[in-house]
Amino acid sequence: MQAAVLEEFGKPLEVQELELAEPRAGEVLVRLVACGVCHTDLYTASGADPSGYAPTVLGHEGAGVVESVGPDVTLLEPGDHVVTLFSPQCGECIHCLDARTNLCLAIRDEQGKGHLPDGTVRLSRGGEEIRHFMGTSTFAEYTVMPEIALAKINPEAPLDHACLFACGLSTGLGAAINTAKVEPGSTAVVFGAGMVGLGAVAGCRLQGAERIVCVDLSDDRLELARGQGATEVLTGGEDTVERILELTDGFGADYTFEATGNVKVMRQAVEAARMGWGLCTVAGVAGRGETLDIVPRFLITGRRVAGSSFGGVKGREGVPKLVDRYMAGEIDVEPFISHHLKLDEVNRGFELMEAQDGIRSVIQYD
Ligand code: CU
Ligand code: ZN
Repeated sequence: MQAAVLEEFGKPLEVQELELAEPRAGEVLVRLVACGVCHTDLYTASGADPSGYAPTVLGHEGAGVVESVGPDVTLLEPGDHVVTLFSPQCGECIHCLDARTNLCLAIRDEQGKGHLPDGTVRLSRGGEEIRHFMGTSTFAEYTVMPEIALAKINPEAPLDHACLFACGLSTGLGAAINTAKVEPGSTAVVFGAGMVGLGAVAGCRLQGAERIVCVDLSDDRLELARGQGATEVLTGGEDTVERILELTDGFGADYTFEATGNVKVMRQAVEAARMGWGLCTVAGVAGRGETLDIVPRFLITGRRVAGSSFGGVKGREGVPKLVDRYMAGEIDVEPFISHHLKLDEVNRGFELMEAQDGIRSVIQYD
């Protein structure tokens, strides 16, 4: 099969012919139909992530069709439409059994090493082993993944839209719906209007927030935020907190969301939350080793800070529900997709992202 291989950090991906072994026990072979190009792929490709490794096949925002299943697979069968999950749901571990978290513990260690759960790989090239990325490796025509890391979705859903639910869109929606549990009539501020921030805007709208303020540096993105339900938009700057206080009778917002990964913006998001009960949800991913500055007085006076990974979405249960809401017309996915690419244009997807041209490039396979 064709796959985009990260050979060396800081170099363009190379589309090559790789071998993919058959699925083993509990694993599934998926024919990919579409895959979004995300910042995490670019971050790893650049070499900035100290836990990154190469060679590997990047990609984690995949959607496709089950081609075949290995022994003992009970959750899926050939023909099922699936979204890939870098955050699986085994359904049995202490975290899966607890409603308070989506951080499944089942396969974390091996996934982090680039292995499938049994500690081996299915990807190779002339006998040389190639590691999997985020347990997904979806910049490829096919992938083998554990069944617990695939969400079975409505087969009517267009897969080039559904793939966005594999990462950023669910992260943003879930931050508002699951982590913050935004209440109707409330005021929310979303910092950042990339895929995660726009998802958070949409999530606040679905939860019935009355005012949704979106902050970003790009007018184009703020326009997209309006399309997702933002009632007010602000161009970010040093004085963002003061401007939000002015908009909210001096108090701040009931809910704030951080979706840039910039720790200075995170601090603003904490300080823009309302005294007494304001909740700041951090959904952006900061660089490894960075720290967030919070003046403790902000916490003593009733603000809270929460973190949200993949929007608190338990993938196999939650992603199909979000896709159903999209199919019911509650979530408008089309505006997020700025470019359709072929696999051999994957590096163009990175360039578009670095140039902040549009929200998402989607690779389509056929
Ligand atoms: Cu991603
Ligand atoms: Zn689990």
